[in-house]
Amino acid sequence: MLEDYPKAIITKDGTQVLLRPLKPEDEGRLLKFFRKIPEQERWFLRDDVTDPRVVHEWVEHLDYARVLPLVALNEEEEAIIANLTLHRRPFGAWRHVGRLRIVVDPDYRGQRLGTWMLLDIIRLAMGLGIEKLVAEFVADVETAAIHAAHKLDFFKVATLPEYVKDREGRYHDLLVMIKNLHQDWSDF
Ligand SMILES: CC(C)(COP(=O)(O)OP(=O)(O)OC[C@H]1O[C@@H](n2cnc3c(N)ncnc32)[C@H](O)[C@@H]1OP(=O)(O)O)[C@@H](O)C(=O)NCCC(=O)NCCS
Repeated sequence: MLEDYPKAIITKDGTQVLLRPLKPEDEGRLLKFFRKIPEQERWFLRDDVTDPRVVHEWVEHLDYARVLPLVALNEEEEAIIANLTLHRRPFGAWRHVGRLRIVVDPDYRGQRLGTWMLLDIIRLAMGLGIEKLVAEFVADVETAAIHAAHKLDFFKVATLPEYVKDREGRYHDLLVMIKNLHQDWSDF
């Protein structure tokens, strides 16, 4: 499946972008990428991605069977401009489930990059035998992502009321959305 990468895609404004799995030599690029993400968005990530030790740990222990990080690189292929991770458990009751998280560089948003990457990972997940893709979104904060997920037929299965706190200490609901995958392309 991964032999299909690198893959060129064209964004809405005609820019060519390269998609491929993250490699160990991307450590510096990934750190730079996360440091460009506004602090109010980074707050809702699970790790402090501006900490070089966190990023070092990830690239040192790449295990695509557990976490597949798909990155998009700019036209010059020198900067990471988006990062999408597919998290899996290769054992037991969770084998058929994939968990997604995506972040796009603010300078490249609204160009369909997020949509293309999600479509790409959906195709990949189908090939890996994943049956359910799950993503969590912070209500009233990750509105663009919720909109994009709806468009790709993710539907809300649960709301965890007042579950996460923003930087000002206000509670927000966490929405759990799922997309069921079928082993053919009838979905599209
Ligand atoms: C969500 C995110 C990945 C979308 O990336 P993107 O490349 O800008 O997405 P696209 O250009 O493919 O747009 C997807 C849809 O969202 C819509 N959208 C973009 N920004 C929006 C906003 N601020 N509010 C509502 N909808 C928005 C787009 O219009 C598009 O819908 P359309 O096809 O009806 O026009 C990006 O905004 C991001 O990184 N956000 C911060 C991190 C985050 O919230 N991650 C989600 C957690 S899983």
